Amino acid sequence: MTADVLLHRDDGVLIVTINRPAKKNAFTAQMYSVLAAAIAEADRRDDIRAVLLQGEGGNFSSGNDIGMFVNDKAAEHKESPATLFLRAVIALRKPMVACVCGHAVGIGATLLLHCDYVVASDDARIRFPFVDLGLCPEFASTLLLQQVVGRNKATEWLLLATTIPAAEAHRAGLINRVMPLETVAAEALSIARCLATKPRQALMATRGLVREATETLVRDSLQREMVVFDTLRQSPEAQEIFRRFLQRAPLRTAAPA
Ligand code: COA
Repeated sequence: MTADVLLHRDDGVLIVTINRPAKKNAFTAQMYSVLAAAIAEADRRDDIRAVLLQGEGGNFSSGNDIGMFVNDKAAEHKESPATLFLRAVIALRKPMVACVCGHAVGIGATLLLHCDYVVASDDARIRFPFVDLGLCPEFASTLLLQQVVGRNKATEWLLLATTIPAAEAHRAGLINRVMPLETVAAEALSIARCLATKPRQALMATRGLVREATETLVRDSLQREMVVFDTLRQSPEAQEIFRRFLQRAPLRTAAPA
């Protein structure tokens, strides 16, 4: 197991900590592999009843490591570790809680759409930066975001790629609760523990029924996004943007006034 992902058990809760603070918890292929295996195991094991996702060092995650996108023709093919992770999360039958502090960007934001409960600190900032990176959104977010926050807000957030403060994300319905930074981790753990003690079959059946109506749509959306994403990722436009990010050059995207 890489130390970039930490796995702990708290009775029936699997606590998954994204632990790459020097890179704001950006995900590497190795991290996706560990996460995919951990989520699949949580699904299989009867003694794990809920999953809690959190980030180390004051941020949830800055999303996919942009270095992985540069000139790598195989970076997002079907069987990539990232894809295995996306599929494991979508297949998970147990409740998943996210504790969000600081930045939640890219897949660090779209992952929240697959959680059952999101607790965020009041300093949390969510961003769907895909268009500004020359990409399209992933993880079925083109479908799920509009279901959660409505089409107008989803379009605004996806096209303008603005940074969304916790309070706005809460008002729009993406976040369940906003807490002071000092108490957010305890609150998230308490929600996960509470879910872990519920009658197991009833909880899983209810969760399954809630998700059933959109299950096929989610998988189709994921598939379609992957095709477009991979084409865009290899485009000269996107490759230039990745290089600029990695060289710390300005990205030339205009923020709304
Ligand atoms: N991929 C690769 N490296 C990343 C990264 C990412 N997604 N996010 C942050 N980093 C790296 C930075 O390059 C920097 O590395 P360095 O110290 O070696 O120069 C380090 O993490 C710290 O990031 P920095 O940008 O200095 O922190 P910040 O607090 O000023 O800004 C963010 C934080 C998250 C707003 C900013 O890093 C960012 O926008 N990252 C890109 C997020 C993104 O677009 N992700 C989606 C990918 S699909």
